[in-house]
Amino acid sequence: MPLEIIRDDITKVHADAIVNAANPSLLGGGGVDGAIHKAAGPQLLEECRTLNGCEVGQAKITKGYNLPAKYVIHTVGPIWRGGNNNEEKLLSDCYKNSLRIAKEYNLESIAFPLISTGAYGYPVDKGLKVAISVIGDFLLNNDMKVYLVVYNKEAFKISEKLFSSIKQYIDDRYVKEHTEKRYRNIEERQIREIYKESMNFFMEEAEQVVKKRCLEDVVNELDETFTQMLLRLIDEKGLTDSQVYKRANIDRRLFSKIRSDINYKPSKSTAIALAIALKLNLDETKDLLSKAGYALSHSNKFDIIIEYFIKEGNYNIFEINEALFAFEQNLLGV
Ligand code: APR
Repeated sequence: MPLEIIRDDITKVHADAIVNAANPSLLGGGGVDGAIHKAAGPQLLEECRTLNGCEVGQAKITKGYNLPAKYVIHTVGPIWRGGNNNEEKLLSDCYKNSLRIAKEYNLESIAFPLISTGAYGYPVDKGLKVAISVIGDFLLNNDMKVYLVVYNKEAFKISEKLFSSIKQYIDDRYVKEHTEKRYRNIEERQIREIYKESMNFFMEEAEQVVKKRCLEDVVNELDETFTQMLLRLIDEKGLTDSQVYKRANIDRRLFSKIRSDINYKPSKSTAIALAIALKLNLDETKDLLSKAGYALSHSNKFDIIIEYFIKEGNYNIFEINEALFAFEQNLLGV
């Protein structure tokens, strides 16, 4: 999974580089800056002295010394002054310049803290959004493993709007599903009646559709495996393989395994990630999932959150993972 949101102390993360939320002097401080210098040892400060500081939004690289990480990329975030002083642009530049340097050094992995969201007062949900969108854009065109390291749950907050509307959506459906169960028996007969009527209606409609299409197409489609349907949809949507697996936040190797095995059965999370990458609507998603033997159900939060985002037309897999993480669900992708 190219982007992972993890809850950890960044000084313990085994990535090629970890990013330090520094100040313009680069001579150490508190927070994550203090923790990194403490874990790296005095040589880090010695090397920082040679860098002559760093401007806000810029980034500079040093060795990692006693850290598990080989390098430290120091960047200076903006101090939050209400949001009308170019803070968002400067914070985006911190992530962009750190990723640019990591790419120049051919690093395979990098770990970010939530820059500026501590002493510099940047609202956590806004800071998180900036991080997710810049890293997400980068990963659509580059192969790198990116960790967004959240130090504690309090620090990990998704935007109020997103959080409350998903919470509402879950409550509506999750509760409804579970209360409905209690009345299931009473309505059982009614539901069967409605189901029979609608199936008759559907079959009549389907007969019309079948007449218009050559029978063996329909037969092929009915026998279409998950992989066949996936490849057909990729062609129909004019996408490239790399666009699909990057948008799905899954490894290239896994994708080529799916592509090369006509009967491959992916995990539910991978199947959903691919549906999101293809920007399928809810029915198409259910259809694709059914080829792998899965269904979306209102009896678990993971599925309800996925359904929410599809209905909202929000296919940003990093935002979806942000929401899944906040509700302590598994993330999408491998
Ligand atoms: N690992 C991961 N994240 C951490 C750690 C850690 N060990 N320690 C703190 N954090 C988180 C904080 O919870 C916050 O979400 O890093 C984020 C950034 O907080 P700060 O470290 O306060 O950095 P910032 O807000 O960018 O302020 C920078 O603080 O430490 C000084 O010298 C630094 O002057 C500079 C200012």
